[in-house]
Amino acid sequence: MQDNYNTNSKKGLFISFEGGEGVGKSTQIDLLKLYFFKKKVKVISTREPGGTEEGEFIRKFLVSGDKHSWDPYSELLLFNALRREHINKIINPSLKNGDIVLCDRFIDSTIIYQGVAGSVNEELLLNLHRTFCYDLFPDITFFLSLNPKLGLARTKFRNNNNENRFEKMGLLYHQKIQDGYKALSKKYNNRFIEINAELTVEQISEEINKHVNSIIQSND
Ligand code: TYD
Repeated sequence: MQDNYNTNSKKGLFISFEGGEGVGKSTQIDLLKLYFFKKKVKVISTREPGGTEEGEFIRKFLVSGDKHSWDPYSELLLFNALRREHINKIINPSLKNGDIVLCDRFIDSTIIYQGVAGSVNEELLLNLHRTFCYDLFPDITFFLSLNPKLGLARTKFRNNNNENRFEKMGLLYHQKIQDGYKALSKKYNNRFIEINAELTVEQISEEINKHVNSIIQSND
């Protein structure tokens, strides 16, 4: 597999946000983006599934419709396809430019949703990531941790209600997701930062800013 980009030469900072349904990732991404904007730091925000025009197109098929519509392996290949486009067209060019990239979900979502909850072998999943997605991992991952009962209750108030294929999976599935993230956060404790998503929006945002500041200062 020919690499379009040598990820080792990146200069920017790649920050992902992870967690189960309804944990408030997008609100925190908007707040952090604003924080960087005010500091005149170059920042972009993006998301998966999605991120590029092609990825947003694939997203529609993945997040809506019947919960059993995809075979787990077909689903995994679609996530890899949109991630490769995303890295080639958005993430790596921005990092090479020295920007901060805020990404709503990335490879850890695949490890948890397709791997832990979907029972795809983790080695296979990481092999695909190495082969097609340059083995790119975020520098920092904020895991917004929340009891799935609370998270699912929060999603009821959203207006994009046809994007609910994963939300339809039931509480047992979502408990697996939360437990999976907890374990992953311990395994990758060099880059994972767990945040209690039961705190207020302001408290979470302050905590995230504090971590980001200390990381940026130590990188300077
Ligand atoms: P998202 O829009 O972030 O949903 P939410 O706001 O409810 O967290 O993501 C849509 C769904 O896609 C989410 O339920 C998790 C799933 N997903 C995977 O299963 N694997 C992946 O690799 C990614 C990126 C997302």
